[in-house]
Amino acid sequence: MHPEPPKLQAHDLTRTFGTTHALGPLDLTVTPGEFVCVVGPSGCGKSTLLRIAAGLTRPSTGTLEIRTSSPRPAAMIFQDYGIHDWKTVLANVRFGLDIQKVPRKEANTRARDWLTRMGLADFADAYPSALSGGMRQRVAIARALAVEPEILLMDEPFAALDAQLRTILQDELLALTQSTHTTTLFITHSLEEAIVLGDRVLVMSARPGRVIAERRPPFPRPRTGGIRSTPEFNALKGELWDLLRGEVHQEAIPA
Ligand SMILES: Nc1ncnc2c1ncn2[C@@H]1O[C@H](COP(=O)(O)OP(=O)(O)O)[C@@H](O)[C@H]1O
Ligand SMILES: [Mg+2]
Repeated sequence: MHPEPPKLQAHDLTRTFGTTHALGPLDLTVTPGEFVCVVGPSGCGKSTLLRIAAGLTRPSTGTLEIRTSSPRPAAMIFQDYGIHDWKTVLANVRFGLDIQKVPRKEANTRARDWLTRMGLADFADAYPSALSGGMRQRVAIARALAVEPEILLMDEPFAALDAQLRTILQDELLALTQSTHTTTLFITHSLEEAIVLGDRVLVMSARPGRVIAERRPPFPRPRTGGIRSTPEFNALKGELWDLLRGEVHQEAIPA
């Protein structure tokens, strides 16, 4: 039996902006169904990596390949939600389906279905400005998942939320991705988030970001947020923090 080819594969990837060497060289492989988390100091090139994966930025050298069996695309969720305030919640969730030219009736059904799953059924006709930060982020997640993407690219999607809401959404995303087996590349500042969600956690160096370590959280799936209170969880968090500390310190020194 042949193993399935990776969904995402980067080889010797670098990106430079003018004289700023932002990223790499970096190698990365994400296998089908895998949830890979990336942590690293701010400014190390995490968003650049995700933007390259989403096709929004070109590599300077090297390659990043995404293998999807079209027409199912990759979907990206940004830190700042990226939802449109002039569209209703339903229209926001339907957005990707409209682009795919899914017939309106089916698109509405699928969008409503995702709103229900995200606990937003009653807000279909509301405008995003009427929603809380956590609800807006759930709209963004519903919109991304409604297209049933083969790869989900998430750039610090919960960074703007308070700790309690963040924990709730982590647990929701955990349950969701474990039921859909969606291949996910997830950027976060939070070690806790990376350990809860990831099959693998990659630690990046200070700029230019390279992968300096990789850990597999030792929690079988399906797992729940309950793992947060285990000794193994805290041990891994401590270990990852030790790895990051030197990099964060470098970052803190003014250039
Ligand atoms: N479009 C751009 N033009 C110029 N510099 C950029 C651009 N995008 C990112 N950078 C620089 O590249 C580096 C990495 O940025 P980014 O990928 O956003 O880091 P992170 O997401 O890890 O905080 C930073 O020094 C940032 O200022
Ligand atoms: Mg970023």
